[in-house]
Amino acid sequence: MRLGLLADVHGNLPALEAVLALLDREAVDAYVCAGDLVGYGAFPNECVATVTALGATVVAGNHELMAIGRLPSEGMIPVVRESTAWTARALDEPTAATLAGLPPSAEGPGGVVVTHGSFDSPEAYVRDAIAARAVLARCAELYSEARVVVLGHTHEAFAWSGGRGELLRGRAGTVTLEAAERALVNPGAVGQSRDDRVLARAAVLDLGDATVRFHEVEYDVDGYRRALRERGLPYSAYHAPPRGGSRATRVARRVVRRARERLAR
Ligand SMILES: [Fe+2]
Repeated sequence: MRLGLLADVHGNLPALEAVLALLDREAVDAYVCAGDLVGYGAFPNECVATVTALGATVVAGNHELMAIGRLPSEGMIPVVRESTAWTARALDEPTAATLAGLPPSAEGPGGVVVTHGSFDSPEAYVRDAIAARAVLARCAELYSEARVVVLGHTHEAFAWSGGRGELLRGRAGTVTLEAAERALVNPGAVGQSRDDRVLARAAVLDLGDATVRFHEVEYDVDGYRRALRERGLPYSAYHAPPRGGSRATRVARRVVRRARERLAR
């Protein structure tokens, strides 16, 4: 069985359609989505309907919860506050009801479990060794049979193995899973890239040969920018610059983080 892994669609329908075309070519059998179908983006109802029609296993992200008033957005940055208020107005009744029914975590096919940030908070960022280990330990408590945890929220492609540590970060590529260890997989964001380039990301988990292939795909960014502007959304909502300024600064931070993680082992 092959699972299409999605996260952080953020109402970006052109990016979602590009990713689904790719996953169709990859002949996936079922879909798992780690939340944030809405927020930032111009097509929240359409994205929820599209993912629902796939029969995907979906959980609630923090943007779903903000849009339906279950999480406050007042303390967030302006683009989040503005787009959350816009999304709350734009949601039609059936879509709002769908979002209200999404669980915080769920079991998908083949020993896969999915949540948005961590099992304990949709706002937790799992991007380092300490957080990854904590999620896998919590998984063992909550879903003892699960072998793969699918996350979103950071918008960064990431694979972490309980035994071997970091397998992949922030790029396309293929990793191999081992039966004896749990793994954590974040496919990266479909609809709001935080890379240097604007890309839509998704992954394919092949349960047969125990691999995860991370994909990146281009989409009609110019057309989507126009849609954001026409609908009165923040113009820059489709892309956020990578954390930490210049590429050199980010590389330096990554080196320091890995050194710290080695010391923490
Ligand atoms: Fe997100």
